[in-house]
Amino acid sequence: MRLIVGLSGASGIMYGIRMLEVLHDLDIETDLVMTSMATKMVEIETNRSCEQVKGLATRCHNNNDFTSVLASGGYRSMGMVVLPCSMKTLAGIACGFADNLLLRAADCTLKERRTLVLVPRETPLNVIQLKNMLTLAESGVTILPAAPGFYHRPKNLDDLVDHIVGKTLDIFGLDHHLYRRWRQDF
Ligand SMILES: Cc1cc2nc3c(=O)[nH]c(=O)nc-3n(C[C@H](O)[C@H](O)[C@H](O)COP(=O)(O)O)c2cc1C
Repeated sequence: MRLIVGLSGASGIMYGIRMLEVLHDLDIETDLVMTSMATKMVEIETNRSCEQVKGLATRCHNNNDFTSVLASGGYRSMGMVVLPCSMKTLAGIACGFADNLLLRAADCTLKERRTLVLVPRETPLNVIQLKNMLTLAESGVTILPAAPGFYHRPKNLDDLVDHIVGKTLDIFGLDHHLYRRWRQDF
C-alpha cells in the first residue's frame, strides 16, 4: 500500500503535513514530493522545519529530479493526492505541463488511470481556475476543496484539518476516525 503525496505552495500546508502523519499511522507508505513554495509555506505557516516534514514520509523525492521513480507510470501506487494544491500546480496538471516532478507524477497517475485527488485552496476563484477544475474533473480527477464542514462541531483547528484529511482518505477507501460522520455514531 503506497500513496504519492504532493505538497504545493498554497496556504494550508498543515493539510499535507497531517496527511503524512495519518498515512504513517495507517501503515501506508508515502512518496513525498514538495514544490519549493511548499517548503516556504512550511516556514510561513508552521513551527516545523522542512526536514521534520520530510521525516514523516517513507521516501522523499526532489521536485527537479525527473529520473525519480515517480516520473514513470510504471511505479505502482494507490494513486496520488496533492494537498494543498495551488492554482498554479492545478493549472499545470490540467494542461499536462509537467515541468516538475510533482506535475509529472500527477500526469503519470492520470495516464495510468489511478486515483488522483487535488485539494485546492484559493478564494475567490476566477473563471480560468474554475475551467481548469472542470477539465480535471472531466478527466476523472477528484477535486476536493479545502473547505471543511462544521456539522461535526469542530472544537479546534485540528478538527477542521482532520475533516479535510478524512474526506481525502475516504476517496481512497481508507478506514479512519478523523471526523464524525453525519448521524453515524455507530
Ligand atoms: C503566503 C502565501 C500564500 C499563498 N496562498 C496561496 C493559495 O492559497 N492558493 C494558491 O493557489 N496560491 C497561493 N500562493 C501563491 C503560490 O505560492 C504561487 O502561485 C506559487 O507559484 C505556487 O507554486 P507551486 O504550485 O509550484 O507550489 C501563496 C503564496 C504565498 C506567499
